[in-house]
Amino acid sequence: MAKIGRIYRALVERDFKVLNAIEKGMSTYQYVPLEVIEKYSRLPESHVELSLRKLHRLKLVKRQMLMYKGYRLTYLGLDMLALRFFVKNNVVEAIGDKLGVGKESEIFRALAPGNILVAIKFLRIGRPSFRSTRRVRVYADNPRLDWYKQSKIAAEREFKALKELYYVGASVPHPLAYNRHAIVIKYINGIELYTKPSLEDPYYTLSVIIDTIKKAYQDVGIVHGDLSEYNVLVDVDNGTPYIIDWPQYVEKEHPSSLSLLRRDIVYIVRFFKKNYRVEADIDRALKYVLGESESF
Ligand SMILES: Nc1ncnc2c1ncn2[C@@H]1O[C@H](COP(=O)(O)OP(=O)(O)OP(=O)(O)O)[C@@H](O)[C@H]1O
Ligand SMILES: [Mg+2]
Repeated sequence: MAKIGRIYRALVERDFKVLNAIEKGMSTYQYVPLEVIEKYSRLPESHVELSLRKLHRLKLVKRQMLMYKGYRLTYLGLDMLALRFFVKNNVVEAIGDKLGVGKESEIFRALAPGNILVAIKFLRIGRPSFRSTRRVRVYADNPRLDWYKQSKIAAEREFKALKELYYVGASVPHPLAYNRHAIVIKYINGIELYTKPSLEDPYYTLSVIIDTIKKAYQDVGIVHGDLSEYNVLVDVDNGTPYIIDWPQYVEKEHPSSLSLLRRDIVYIVRFFKKNYRVEADIDRALKYVLGESESF
C-alpha cells in the first residue's frame, strides 16, 4: 500500500469535496448514489466522475454497481478527511511512517508546527482483523453501529479521557486534537514495557503507574480496563512510564469497575514482581488506589 502521506499529497481540493460529499451521504445511504454526491459536492458531473475514478484507484472509496452506482468511504478515505482537518487547523504539518498497528488502530508518526513530534491514532473499530480473536470491546450501547460510527465514538472517548487525565497530572500522552475517528497526541520517545527495558529504579516506574491508576480513579472517576505491560510506554532515559490506549475505559459507577480496577493492578504488579523483583502487594496497592491507605 502506498504511504499515507503520499496519498494525501496526491489529493486536490476537488477530491476532498467529493470525499466530504460521500461522508455526508453515508448518514443516509449504505452506498451514496452518484447523483447525491454530485449534489452535495456542488461539482459538475464530469469532475465528480474523474475524481471518483482517482479515489477508487487510491482505495479511498468502495464502489457498488448492482442496483445503482454508489460509493462509500473506506477507512483510508476517512483518514484523509481527518488528516485534512488536522492540517487545516495547524495541528499537523507532515505525516510520517507507521508507528504501529493495534487490534483497533493504526498509529503514525507526524510533525506538528514547531517541529514537534506527535502521533496520530486512527481508530479502526469493527474492522475484521488478524488479531480479532482477542477480546472484542464495545464502545457504544448498540453493537450494530457500523465501523465508522464506532470508531468515531471510540476516538471521542479516548480524547476526552486523555484530556481529563492529563489535566489532573496523570502520566499519559498529552492530547492535542481529535477529529472524526482520529486523535493527535504528543509522541512519546519510549518503548513498550512488555519488552522489559532495563530500569534504573523499577520501583519508581511502578509507582508512577499506580499513581496514574489512582488519579484516574479518584480525580477523573474512570478505570482503564485494559491495562497491562502492552499499554505502558517507558521513556528509557528517565524510566517514566506513560499509560496509553484509553478508549475502553469504564466509569467508576459501572458495575464492573472494581473488578476491572483490580485486574489492571494485578497485571501490572505481577509484571513488576516477575521481571524486576519489585516487592508489592496487590491488595495494598488496591487499597492505596481506593484511598484506603497512604502507601502501597
Ligand atoms: N503517543 C505515542 N507515542 C509513541 N508511540 C505510541 C504512542 N501511542 C501509541 N504508540 C505506539 O502504538 C502502539 C499501539 O497504541 P495503542 O495501544 O494506543 O493502540 P491499540 O490499537 O489499542 O493497540 P492494541 O489494542 O493492540 O493494544 C503502542 O504500543 C506504541 O508502540
Ligand atoms: Mg494498546
